Amino acid sequence: MPLHPATRLRDEAATTAEFAADVRAGLARRPKRIASKWLYDARGSALFERICTLPEYYLTRTELAILREHAGAIGAALGPQPLLVEYGSGSGTKTRLLLEALQDPVGYVPIELSRSALADSIERVADAFPQLAVLPLCADFTAPLALPAPPRRPRRVVVFFPGSTLGNFDTREAVALLARMRRTIGAGGAALVGIDLRKDRATLEAAYNDAAGVTAQFTLNLLARMNRELGADFDLDRFRHRARWNALAGRIETHIVSSVEQQVRVGGRRVHFTAGEAMLVEYSCKYTQAGFERIAARAGLRVECSWSDPDGAFALELLRPP
Ligand code: TRP
Repeated sequence: MPLHPATRLRDEAATTAEFAADVRAGLARRPKRIASKWLYDARGSALFERICTLPEYYLTRTELAILREHAGAIGAALGPQPLLVEYGSGSGTKTRLLLEALQDPVGYVPIELSRSALADSIERVADAFPQLAVLPLCADFTAPLALPAPPRRPRRVVVFFPGSTLGNFDTREAVALLARMRRTIGAGGAALVGIDLRKDRATLEAAYNDAAGVTAQFTLNLLARMNRELGADFDLDRFRHRARWNALAGRIETHIVSSVEQQVRVGGRRVHFTAGEAMLVEYSCKYTQAGFERIAARAGLRVECSWSDPDGAFALELLRPP
């Protein structure tokens, strides 16, 4: 699909070089680990969209239900004429619901590392809101951001960070990311952050170990991506997906486990895996309301309001500088 002409593209070669450097450093760590942002190439993004519709993956549909149920209150709390900035452009359904709830938004800035995901989201939003200025940013939202200027002056900047993606960062990184977000929204802005709440182990583990095996395909695609982009020779049949609830740390930990002892070639190097060796690919932190408020406070943000579903499975948190 042709990209929207306004898409500012990151240089593809630079992204591959960054991926290669990250993989090299991550495979040298003990335990080995690969940053989860690399899960989202075109195939990974497509698989993730399928995860969002799985019966076990309650997060997406619950967040959508909260948005639908409280759209009016959320729109009123965020205020008129915002510039909406979204971290990770996602599938567009949440965006559409939020944009419908906002009063006279002056523009929409999706920020996304994956070009294909960004192109899809631009298309969807542009179709649904033909009058809205869409100002896409192909960038890493964990790095400092320069927001594009919308045609009309916004009254405030609102960051939307749904999907409990914040939970994919450890606490220190999450605080740093929220602090950066505070700088992006400035004194008069606000942030709407989706977080998954703590619940029983069975529900949590099922959400990351679906019966259809889509999540396993999603995580193992990281190996396939290394084969495609870095000329690695991972045999996907000799690795498996594993996701477990770590109650002490309050997070799901997703690993790729080597089924046998083996050597793999990655970018001209030989990497050794012992039988049963686990490589970390993702944390998905689950919060209590009080715990989340402490994290926000460390980033200089106050929870002004939070909206949840009747079962208290998920929450949308409205953050503002004090
Ligand atoms: N933000 C999502 C989450 O933590 C991402 C995700 C869903 C994910 N399923 C996954 C990441 C499996 C890695 C592996 O729920």
